[in-house]
Amino acid sequence: MTTTVRATWSNKLAFVLAAAASAVGLGSMWRFPYLAAKYGGGTFLFMYLVFVFTIGIALLLLETAFGRKTGQSSIGAFKAFGKKYAFIGVFMSSIPFIIVPYYCVIGGWTTKYMAAYITDGPAALADGGTYFSNFIANTPESMLFMLIFMAITYLVVGMGVNNGIEKANLVMMPALILVAAALAVYSLTLPGALEGVAFYLVPDLSKFSPELVVAALGQTFFTLSLAMGIMVTYGSYLEKKEKLTSSVMQIAGTTFGISLLAGFMIIPSTFAALGSGDAVAQNAGPSLMFVILPQVFNSMGPAGGIIGCVFFILVIFAALTSSISLVETCTAIIQDGSGCSRRRAFVVTIVFTTVAGIIVNLGYSGLSFIQPLGEGTTILDFLDFISNSVMMPISAILTCVFVGWIIKPKTIIDEVKVSAEFRLEKAWAVLIKYIAPICITIILVAYVAQTFGIITL
Ligand code: PHE
Repeated sequence: MTTTVRATWSNKLAFVLAAAASAVGLGSMWRFPYLAAKYGGGTFLFMYLVFVFTIGIALLLLETAFGRKTGQSSIGAFKAFGKKYAFIGVFMSSIPFIIVPYYCVIGGWTTKYMAAYITDGPAALADGGTYFSNFIANTPESMLFMLIFMAITYLVVGMGVNNGIEKANLVMMPALILVAAALAVYSLTLPGALEGVAFYLVPDLSKFSPELVVAALGQTFFTLSLAMGIMVTYGSYLEKKEKLTSSVMQIAGTTFGISLLAGFMIIPSTFAALGSGDAVAQNAGPSLMFVILPQVFNSMGPAGGIIGCVFFILVIFAALTSSISLVETCTAIIQDGSGCSRRRAFVVTIVFTTVAGIIVNLGYSGLSFIQPLGEGTTILDFLDFISNSVMMPISAILTCVFVGWIIKPKTIIDEVKVSAEFRLEKAWAVLIKYIAPICITIILVAYVAQTFGIITL
């Protein structure tokens, strides 16, 4: 067995930035604005806020403390308490391997759109969806852009935790925040935008429903990169002296803040261009970002080409920092799990994710006959569903039960207390033992039942 020296973050900022960089991604940029518009603006915003700062930070704290205590990524971390618990780590660890391929396919689409604003101009992209469907079905082209996106991700991870990931985040995260703020301000100055702001912020209580609660909780998991071993791995690179309690607040605050900004970028400008938020609310998934937004940019006149290009650079940054965290976690899992060198683990990760990415990509052309979730669905839809709606809730429930009932909350509380006061320890223990597993079980059952048409939420 080769033992390699384990990486550590240079300082607390590097850790917080890396965790926030993982969290802020396509979930905040594209999924959040759609969900907020769909579920009555302020009502959804409020529920999401509540979940992020209760169950969200409780699990963030659990995962990072667990990683730091054991100094291992998820498989090793669970195994440290007995071989029979390793299966939880194995299950959790399989999730990033499922997400990387499809996340990179979407990353490739974003890269193509950024380039297309330069090569084809805003009018060509605003044709109501034909441009997009032609592109994703064009295998060589969509494959090329996916591979470019993957290559950048691999390059950064290949440079290591300190020289690659930390440095990339130090550039991309501040740039992302500045550009998002600038675009949000610009969007607010457009005529008709204020109506969009009211729509976004004023709660429409008639939209409150069980479905909204389920969506807000699912969004909390996805955006905070929880339940898939990422925060365990990142916690394992953290030194004992760093305070976990303030770190998790900063990570959650940044993620919430950027989601809020994304809503300000997208909803008021869509109102200004199209006169209502319906286009945002009714276009879940790809069509919001790749069909509706190009129409919004095109309506901005000559500025639209530049705004469109800058917007997609922003989304690429957000997606890249998340895919970097996913690939890093896959590498750490293989390395810790097999005892091989980081280099070898990295090569295995690259081969696996590239091949899987090619298969997901072919789901829009040569393999489009594979429709796992029914007529018109793709391999990408299936992987997204199975990872986010099924495996992540199961992994979170197993983790809560493991910590709450098997190793007991005190094990984690003691780890948190090594470097900080933990005033809310009792409330945290109740959340982990009872509230979180019950709420998550409800989401899981609701999602699965809805997908298979057993209930209509
Ligand atoms: N949190 C990321 C986002 O919001 C998604 C992600 C999921 C990233 C899982 C890493 C791991 O887009």
